[in-house]
Amino acid sequence: MMLLVTGATGTLGRDVVATLRERGHEVRGLSRSAPGHVHGDLLTGAGIADAVDGADVIIHAATDGRRDDTATANLLRHVRDDQHLIYVSIVGVDRVPLPYYRSKYRIEQRISERGGSILRATQFHNLVRTLARALTVAPVGLYPAFDIQPVDTSEVARRLAEIAEGGERVELEDFAGPEVRSARDLFQVYLKSAGRRRPLLPVRVPGKIFRAYRSGGHLAPASAIGTITFEQFLASPPR
Ligand SMILES: NC(=O)c1ccc[n+]([C@@H]2O[C@H](COP(=O)([O-])OP(=O)(O)OC[C@H]3O[C@@H](n4cnc5c(N)ncnc54)[C@H](OP(=O)(O)O)[C@@H]3O)[C@@H](O)[C@H]2O)c1
Repeated sequence: MMLLVTGATGTLGRDVVATLRERGHEVRGLSRSAPGHVHGDLLTGAGIADAVDGADVIIHAATDGRRDDTATANLLRHVRDDQHLIYVSIVGVDRVPLPYYRSKYRIEQRISERGGSILRATQFHNLVRTLARALTVAPVGLYPAFDIQPVDTSEVARRLAEIAEGGERVELEDFAGPEVRSARDLFQVYLKSAGRRRPLLPVRVPGKIFRAYRSGGHLAPASAIGTITFEQFLASPPR
């Protein structure tokens, strides 16, 4: 089987490429410029036809956070019906009215119409660590007053590989981390692992986006399939 991975240099994409290669597959990673990958730009369309050509499966994990509708439309233009397209989405894109989530929800619908598969993941451990780091720089740290269910990208990558190998379309599946925990709790875990102490204050923002997070629209406790905890992620070698 030959697979194309868009977003191959990204946080998730790196693990997807490594996992697929470990499992013996031929992998073509797409990047705009990184050495060792096929070069192409989903926004301009340059290089996409060649990148897609000959792939049995396309795992679409590229994002620039703003223009993914256009990027995905450019990709879809070259995907044939006999190629299995697997899209990486986010748990709650249909519930949290963040513009980025809305765009991903629209993309999901396009992928579905084309017979593709969709895997929705919860927030990656890396993202939680980045947020915790950024919000605890000042002498008094901040945390968003809601819960998070972080998941490890290595486990999301493994599930994507299984879907690719299975050959069957997975219409829509949630893949969530093992634990729903308060952001405060997770930030304290981060501070402890970094050997730092900070008082932490909650941040609450008026409006429907924050309300949706607060009511757990981005969580999937019934799909807590991941096993790697935030503590285990922080203790593992940097990836
Ligand atoms: N972060 C999270 O917590 C989280 C949670 C659930 C789901 N997701 C989803 O998982 C997917 C991967 O997220 P991530 O955090 O791993 O992304 P990331 O680290 O930000 O990586 C983005 C990737 O997209 C590529 N890219 C951006 N613009 C491109 C363009 N115009 N043409 C071609 N490639 C382009 C980049 O490649 P180059 O720069 O090398 O070109 C890079 O490999 C996304 O769909 C995201 O919505 C993320």
